[in-house]
Amino acid sequence: MQKENIPVIDIRLIDDDVHQIDIATQIRKACSEHGFFYVSGHGVAEGLQEKLLQESKLFFSLPEHEKLKIAMEKGGNAWRGFFPVNAELTSGKPDRKEGLYFGSELSAHDQRVKSGTPLHGKNLFPNHPAAFKDTVLTYMDAVIQTGHSIMKGIALSLGLPADYFYDQYTSDPLILFRIFHYPPQQALETQWGVGEHTDYGLLTILLQDSVGGLQVKSKGEWIDAPPVPNTFICNIGDMLDKMTGGVYRSTPHRVLNTSGQNRLSFPLFFDPNFNSKIASIKNADGEMYSASIERWDKADIHVFEGTYGEYLLEKIGKVFPDLGKDVLGL
Ligand code: OGA
Ligand code: NI
Repeated sequence: MQKENIPVIDIRLIDDDVHQIDIATQIRKACSEHGFFYVSGHGVAEGLQEKLLQESKLFFSLPEHEKLKIAMEKGGNAWRGFFPVNAELTSGKPDRKEGLYFGSELSAHDQRVKSGTPLHGKNLFPNHPAAFKDTVLTYMDAVIQTGHSIMKGIALSLGLPADYFYDQYTSDPLILFRIFHYPPQQALETQWGVGEHTDYGLLTILLQDSVGGLQVKSKGEWIDAPPVPNTFICNIGDMLDKMTGGVYRSTPHRVLNTSGQNRLSFPLFFDPNFNSKIASIKNADGEMYSASIERWDKADIHVFEGTYGEYLLEKIGKVFPDLGKDVLGL
């Protein structure tokens, strides 16, 4: 099936004047051709990845009633906790996956929490395994650092100053982190592990185990994004597509786990600050980027005006219709 491969880009030397141009060139090619690339040299310890994997496995093997002790319904408008198989409707149909939602850990004294800003607050952590809380928080911190490095590369790849995104959007990024468990399934047209969708923000940084099942629609064809040891798979979200006038593609993807084994994946969404207004990027001559590429259902991104938070809440209301209504009043 595979005609095209998604490239692996080593970002270890992104702060090195000599090497960063080469890295940025590779990023530009990957973002405009696929909207997806693997990242190596990311600096997140393998031991930490492995610990996260093992502890997540333990959590999902608990009986359902145990997992439901931290059900999302208990997370309030911080939008955290466990959801069971079939509870999330990514493309209008229930996904065959269960998962945990986390985000930046904010105390009750944080101004955004005090004022009731949706998606901001405390995480719900399970009691078992006991080390899980520490592992998840340590992992998120490490991957956020990687996110800042990749965004430098993306800025340079667009001919912008390295700190462009940091200065405009991500000095205090909105971080959502999820752990998904995809039980094995048959290949049916009627159900996917996660249905075809694009991601909403700037950049998704995904760790996956060795099972495989992620598929990417590149140049009109579905291709596999198989696991590559000690890499993250990264993809562009709707906001970067919007900012670049479609030059960088927020590429549709989906998951189908027909391996016969359980699959775990760990997407971290590295996104603009909730209150930031999304603006088009201009090139050195002050002109906006624009691509004359045929879009699928994304016309809405380019007409949308507003903050990232507004865009995200509208999307969330669609994928969790009941929770969206009850908890966020969407
Ligand atoms: C997502 C996603 C893919 C995966 O969460 O947006 O596309 O492999 N996940 O879990
Ligand atoms: Ni996705």
